[in-house]
Amino acid sequence: MTLAAGYRLVDGAPSTDDYVRLRRESGLSVKTAEQGSAAITGSWAFRHVVDASGGVVGMGRLVGDGAWYFLVADMATLPEHQGRGIGSVILDSLLEQIHAEVPAGAYVTLTADPPGRRLYESRGFVDVAPARTGMHLVTN
Ligand SMILES: CC(C)(COP(=O)(O)OP(=O)(O)OC[C@H]1O[C@@H](n2cnc3c(N)ncnc32)[C@H](O)[C@@H]1OP(=O)(O)O)[C@@H](O)C(=O)NCCC(=O)NCCS
Repeated sequence: MTLAAGYRLVDGAPSTDDYVRLRRESGLSVKTAEQGSAAITGSWAFRHVVDASGGVVGMGRLVGDGAWYFLVADMATLPEHQGRGIGSVILDSLLEQIHAEVPAGAYVTLTADPPGRRLYESRGFVDVAPARTGMHLVTN
């Protein structure tokens, strides 16, 4: 997958303001600047995509231990830029870094919202059910 003309993939995180804006404008839950800042410094890998004017239009990251366990998070493309390969290029680049730097057998997990399901399936992700059950806990 290659990016449409005018877009550029950047290895690294966007600014905290862009992180918060992309989550909000792509329909993900709203996070504070403090959460965004910690997410950026605490990630194992981060990618974002800018458009021709330099504005950040997409992002995605990996939280991980650098050894074998990774979580795909914050996959978000602004609505008006969706369907142009941005999410695919970001995910491919993140997975390439795992292939390049981590021994085979890495476990890469995610929770798929409906908009991302097809993208993840196309990259080889499979449902943990019925063998196992995904679970989560959200603190008060
Ligand atoms: C999921 C998401 C990051 C994909 O980003 P994207 O830049 O649109 O991704 P791509 O252009 O590479 O498209 C990947 C797949 O997403 C789907 N898709 C993308 N845009 C779409 C749209 N507007 N409507 C329906 N499906 C769409 C397509 O099925 C596409 O697969 P295909 O190439 O086989 O047709 C984006 O849709 C998004 O930000 N959604 C809202 C936020 C969200 O739910 N993120 C978390 C997902 S777990």
